[in-house]
Amino acid sequence: MPRTPLIAANWKMNPAPEGAFAADSPYRPQSGIETMVFPTFFDLQPCLEAGLPTGAQYGHPDSVGAHTGDVSMTMIKKAGCPFVLCGHSERRRDHHEEDSDVVAQAEAALRNGLHPVICVGETESERRTKRHKQVVERQVRVLPLREVVTIAYEPVWAIGTGVTPTPEQAEDMHAFIRSLIPEARRESTRILYGGSLTAENALEFFQQPDIDGGLVGGASLKPAVFREIVLAAVQARS
Ligand code: 13P
Repeated sequence: MPRTPLIAANWKMNPAPEGAFAADSPYRPQSGIETMVFPTFFDLQPCLEAGLPTGAQYGHPDSVGAHTGDVSMTMIKKAGCPFVLCGHSERRRDHHEEDSDVVAQAEAALRNGLHPVICVGETESERRTKRHKQVVERQVRVLPLREVVTIAYEPVWAIGTGVTPTPEQAEDMHAFIRSLIPEARRESTRILYGGSLTAENALEFFQQPDIDGGLVGGASLKPAVFREIVLAAVQARS
């Protein structure tokens, strides 16, 4: 069974773009392509009410407790939200999340019936010193990969910089990540690429055999651009 491409919009700490809830919103799934939006907690409910496939950007692994400012996976599920991001590099950087935290989040997501989209990726200095595969292997090996999850490979140095790996370099990492997935899930697990995806470069990434879509940051805030990125995924599979 071929993997259905998924194009996910990570709006980070930005309001939902104008037109996101419209009937012809580009954030709705279309022509064999799944879409997903990751809004701020404030915009979760409007996105769900508009019928968009919606995920939270973070969830605490404990269901309740003394964690000021946090929201739990249990609460996200109860709000009717089916998806959650785990381990985005901005969370690893700003909130000092480590691999063990990311695993705890992914496991809690699964326990609560949420589908985790788990981010991995190396920093610029790890790539420069040729440790990128070692780092990504460390991040991937600890994940609950016998379950149904989505992985997003986001090289940290490509996020918001306008710099990307070549499609071939990205494919090399995606194929490597796939090789680390237990055989029973190897061909069915989706691996998204994220990091400075644009309407101009999306097609060449999506044409790679192990790249199953994208996790889009900056470009996902512009509905017209996001629409073109979704169309690139349609074109890549036709
Ligand atoms: P940019 O597309 O802005 O580089 O961000 C990528 C990202 O972090 C998506 O999660």
